[in-house]
Amino acid sequence: MCGIIGYIGKKNALSAVIEGLSKLEYRGYDSAGVAYQYNSNFKICKEKGRVIDLKKSLTDSHSNLAIGHTRWATHGEPSQKNAHPHCSFHQRFILVHNGIIENYQKLKFEYLNTYSFISETDTEIIADLIEYFSNTLQVEDAIRKTMSVIEGSYACLILDTLHQDRMYFIKDKSPLLLGKDEEGISFASDITGLLGYATEYMPLDDKTFGVVIQDKIELYDMIGISKEQIFKEISIQEEEINKKTFDHFMLKEIYEQPMMIRNLIRKYFKGEEVILSKKLLHLLRQCDKVNFVACGSSMYASYFAKYYFEKLCGIPCEVFCASELVYSTPLISKRPFFIFFSQSGETADLIAVMKKIKRQNYPVLTITNTMESSMVRLSDYALDICAGKEIAVASTKAYTAMVVTSAILARAVSGNKTNLKNNLKAVSLAMEKVLENKEVCKGIAREIVDAQDLFYIGRGIDYWTSLEASLKLKEIAYIHTEAFSSGELKHGPIALITKNTPVIAIITQEGTNRITRSNLEETASRGAHTYVISSKGLSLPKDDIIIPNVAHYLSALVSTVVVQLIAYYAAVFKQNDIDKPKNLAKSVTVE
Ligand code: F6R
Repeated sequence: MCGIIGYIGKKNALSAVIEGLSKLEYRGYDSAGVAYQYNSNFKICKEKGRVIDLKKSLTDSHSNLAIGHTRWATHGEPSQKNAHPHCSFHQRFILVHNGIIENYQKLKFEYLNTYSFISETDTEIIADLIEYFSNTLQVEDAIRKTMSVIEGSYACLILDTLHQDRMYFIKDKSPLLLGKDEEGISFASDITGLLGYATEYMPLDDKTFGVVIQDKIELYDMIGISKEQIFKEISIQEEEINKKTFDHFMLKEIYEQPMMIRNLIRKYFKGEEVILSKKLLHLLRQCDKVNFVACGSSMYASYFAKYYFEKLCGIPCEVFCASELVYSTPLISKRPFFIFFSQSGETADLIAVMKKIKRQNYPVLTITNTMESSMVRLSDYALDICAGKEIAVASTKAYTAMVVTSAILARAVSGNKTNLKNNLKAVSLAMEKVLENKEVCKGIAREIVDAQDLFYIGRGIDYWTSLEASLKLKEIAYIHTEAFSSGELKHGPIALITKNTPVIAIITQEGTNRITRSNLEETASRGAHTYVISSKGLSLPKDDIIIPNVAHYLSALVSTVVVQLIAYYAAVFKQNDIDKPKNLAKSVTVE
């Protein structure tokens, strides 16, 4: 993961880097550092902890050239020594890196056996290799030579103490965006990092090498052929990444869900028709199987996509966990179609699978919240989930937006005239009702906050919501939570129930209402403290949270808001760092 930022220009590069790093902190937040030019020298400042700690220890306040890094540790513990920027052995090159160098041990042995190393990172050897090769090569060639021997993923910004007017950059598999305005040139791992310092941006391709010398950009491929520079206007606004009056981004993003649904209706519906690429719809109609590929919450969203495609379009579907699929070779049907779900569009596990699928020439669609991402560039088709920037590490509105987008897509593929548009409008109103009654969710959160273990149960749609509910509680409240299909309890997990173990049942489907209630009862007889979240039409007076009725196939969108709020308030009671939970990062760019 990790976030990198660079600035060279007339504005204050130190402010650009510190502001940019604060916006990229969601990518990793165990240490941070900067290198900047000051009085004909480069200075480095790095700290274990957050960007705010780094800011406090900076002794200078102005520079015209700086690079910065916020880290999510992969090689070496979070510490000042392992924080970026890293210097080469003879102190000539300084760099920041996002990604992983998989063959770094081998390279140490092959080229750097006379060097000693300060950090435990894989990154340090990139700086060392550039320095080593520059003993016999021009700097540009030394950097290209380094690119040819390192294996893995990288986006790096590199400073050369002998040429202080420039910034080199290299990129393969980790994201890197180049931005510019009239006053300067900037780099960032994502578009938010450029805000305020660029009006245009260009996502860099894999195996790109380049250099910025003052206000001039040079861009090359690996063999040194100059590449075209195509910049696009930045459309995202600063205020989209502002917490406003909310205590946390997560709460703001939970509250943005009704609006997100209305945005999706506006984006995809023209009257009662869904407007999508005819070629995409044709390919989906004539395929014999849709394969969904995703990770984490996005994978749980794709269970709904499978359901919509099978029910509405009659196409068999399968959901694959990307990190498993990349190392397995399942039987592929004759005319498969692959749909990837990813809010970030940068998840390394997904990119690895996508490359494998593309090599076999199968059609690929990415459903994402980041249309300028690597996955979109690799795909044949892309659909925007229009959730707006999601800053909190735990996904909320991007998850529900994926469910909605997949319902819209399935409706378009099926050509059938279900009343999806009105049903979605009803969902947005129902979500608002849940938000108005958030105190009830807070009440449950207060009761379960000290639980050692907690179980969510449900069947079908409600089981998939349980999976997401359980993930949210783990991620931000650090409560050990599992989700079970309520029917599976008696086949093993019920042995885990002890006195007062909270068990929360989600009941929004008529066909499974009665049976889930009896499964819940079985846990109560073994001492569990049980709770029920039910749809109004199926509710009993003693149920704990009753949500408004909506079309049964969309009910999960409403019950999800309840479980998001329960997780959120449990984390508030524990005084956890909700937007930046421990050990996690939002954009998982390592396999
Ligand atoms: C959970 C969460 C993660 C992501 C997963 C995939 O709240 O956000 O489980 O869903 O890391 O990330 P994307 O969707 O960016 O591919």
